[in-house]
Amino acid sequence: MNQAFRPGAALRGTLVAPPDKSLSHRAALLGAMSSEPVVVTNYLDAADTRSSLAAVRALGALVDTRDKRTSTDTGDTRAGTGDLIIRGPGLRAATPGAAIDVGNAGTLLRLLPGWLAGQPDGSWTLDGDASIRRRPVDRVARPLAAMGADIRARDDRFTPLRIEGRALRGIEYELPVASAQIKSCVLLAGLLAEGTTTVVEPAPSRDHTERLLARAGAGIERAGARVTITCQDELLLESIHVPGDPSSAAFHAAAAVLVPGSRLVIEGMAANWTRVGFFRILERMGAVLIGDLERRESAAPDAEPVCELDVAHGPLAGTRVTAEEVPLAIDELPLVALLGCFAEGETVVEGAQELRVKESDRIATVVDGLRGLGADIEATADGFAVRGGGLRGGVLHAHGDHRLAMLGAVAGLASRDGVEVVGMEAAAVSYPGFTADLAALSG
Ligand code: S3P
Repeated sequence: MNQAFRPGAALRGTLVAPPDKSLSHRAALLGAMSSEPVVVTNYLDAADTRSSLAAVRALGALVDTRDKRTSTDTGDTRAGTGDLIIRGPGLRAATPGAAIDVGNAGTLLRLLPGWLAGQPDGSWTLDGDASIRRRPVDRVARPLAAMGADIRARDDRFTPLRIEGRALRGIEYELPVASAQIKSCVLLAGLLAEGTTTVVEPAPSRDHTERLLARAGAGIERAGARVTITCQDELLLESIHVPGDPSSAAFHAAAAVLVPGSRLVIEGMAANWTRVGFFRILERMGAVLIGDLERRESAAPDAEPVCELDVAHGPLAGTRVTAEEVPLAIDELPLVALLGCFAEGETVVEGAQELRVKESDRIATVVDGLRGLGADIEATADGFAVRGGGLRGGVLHAHGDHRLAMLGAVAGLASRDGVEVVGMEAAAVSYPGFTADLAALSG
């Protein structure tokens, strides 16, 4: 589906940030792993998180939709705020033997093997769409194999991924990259592994899994860069509330900063400091943001803080994003490239080679996409460099990547002539209501 986004209309009003994708995936998995029913409120109703619900159902969970007015029933394309009850098979009783289709969901692909590898018996195959088939799974297969798992990937690196459940032992694992997905996978496996399992992070990455596991009563401790978990009999969680997604709200925030006359309030957004790196970068570029983003030093051990954020149009200055900051803003780095097109001077992102293995090679697709719209941008081995000067506009291909589709839309609003996005339907992976929300704010 092609969709045109024209320059002009300022964004005004209030955006209720759509439910967080990362936390929704984790709510589905931890809900299924819990011994008692878990009530999940504000679960994201989007393609990726539907894949997680289908997966836990295939593994024996019963999922009741409490709010029957989800988008499938009403034809409403906006991200639903689904309330669910998940009655899981529990930690050690996943239904043995199933083919799991993860769709486009890299997080499901990386986290689920951690639960399955330590099941007492059964075998499972994980596979997904064309994008998933290009994304590496050796990053989780390697530590799981070191724990004693029986796990095989195509060419030792890609899906289909076959897992046979067996007894695991705890290990100490130094993550080769700062990845919340790998960290989470090893911690989930650690719940089932004999002894203790320690993950050492090269730099902090999102910590939702640790916070949820602590709330579920797991023996989990952080000491600096080390997270240690002990073998558990069971997980117990009564409820999980999913806050708004900062990665989705970031698109509207960027649009508000770029389009003259804009003034936007974002409500209900997760303010966890491991997720709001983009907003800190935006502030550093000169944007005025008012809101209570969580501070690293005051981070609560298990709660997920939420904030209201006030964003307005204003001038930007170029900045340098360093490797340490990258995991805290990983999914928003395409937006940093776009902001750089409108900032005074140069904006450089370094240490972001992980962008090459996202839903698309986001260094290539972002740089080619923005250059096609007139940007003065070039790719580097581990990021990009962009100089301000504005955007002419033109056509941008989403390459099946939801964040690229939404990037094209925001680029269109900020450009001189507008942007036609080819493949706008990709936005439904994380944010089905994206264009409706944008239209409502600029209407
Ligand atoms: C995610 C972690 C990040 C991020 C992805 C979601 C998660 O991936 O890019 O969209 O929910 O844990 P990596 O951990 O591979 O960097």
